[in-house]
Amino acid sequence: MAKRLSMLMRMGNLTRTGQVGDGREEALADYVLAHAAPGDVDDAIRVIDEYAYRQATLINIGDEKGLVLDAAVRRAEPRLLLELGTYCGYSALRMSRVMGPKARLCSIEFSAANAAVARRIWDHAGLGERVTVLHGTLGDDGRTIDRLNSEYGFGPGRLDFVFVDHIARAYLPDLRRILDQRWLRPGSIVLADNMKVPGAPHYRAYLREHEGTQWRTREHHAHVEYQSWVKDLVLESEYLPSGAATGPGGTGPAPA
Ligand SMILES: C[S@@+](CC[C@H](N)C(=O)[O-])C[C@H]1O[C@@H](n2cnc3c(N)ncnc32)[C@H](O)[C@@H]1O
Repeated sequence: MAKRLSMLMRMGNLTRTGQVGDGREEALADYVLAHAAPGDVDDAIRVIDEYAYRQATLINIGDEKGLVLDAAVRRAEPRLLLELGTYCGYSALRMSRVMGPKARLCSIEFSAANAAVARRIWDHAGLGERVTVLHGTLGDDGRTIDRLNSEYGFGPGRLDFVFVDHIARAYLPDLRRILDQRWLRPGSIVLADNMKVPGAPHYRAYLREHEGTQWRTREHHAHVEYQSWVKDLVLESEYLPSGAATGPGGTGPAPA
């Protein structure tokens, strides 16, 4: 409880830099390299959870909501995945072990320091080329979007799964950017974490407004990571064929 309170007091730092501000993310990478078996994704995940429970809490999806993420990826059987918000690479580790051997995950992270932490952990776990972190944001004047289109095989209808887990105020604008790119196809899944804490009311209202026409959303009730007293919510939204038939933000023709 005290550890979590001290982290909450550092929320301003988190929003500004993507890190808690006491060096715990770099310390996590050192800890994983010291305690997890090399080349073993399961063990890296186990050790990150252990660190979060015993050393310093982390803002990754955690073990409880992580099961929701695992199940959603399994159901979607994605070939191309996008994550918004890499942090230390924990959710990407989880996705990498349930996505198929030919699937590829691109994870976007605005903090260069976090991207470096994730890369160290992934290299130790032996993730290889299947998972990539790009330092940037979907809102950086097209730089990251251009890289995804030109270097990572993104294009109309190519994106099967999106995990939205970065910063609440960017959830809806970034979903609109994804729609503008027409990356989704009917049946693509968008999973969004932290829908109660801190919550993303505009994103939720948008999904509600388009429920049954552009999106079909399931709610997964769980708890905020690494504790059992504060509730949280994960939304799993399927992009519907009629939504795909209406172009960017639901206003134009679909790509052929
Ligand atoms: C909640 S953490 C992500 C946790 C990670 N998905 C996991 O479960 O292991 C949020 C991350 O998003 C990053 N971030 C904040 N704003 C962002 C943006 N606009 N685009 C990409 N990443 C962003 C932060 O630096 C932070 O590392």
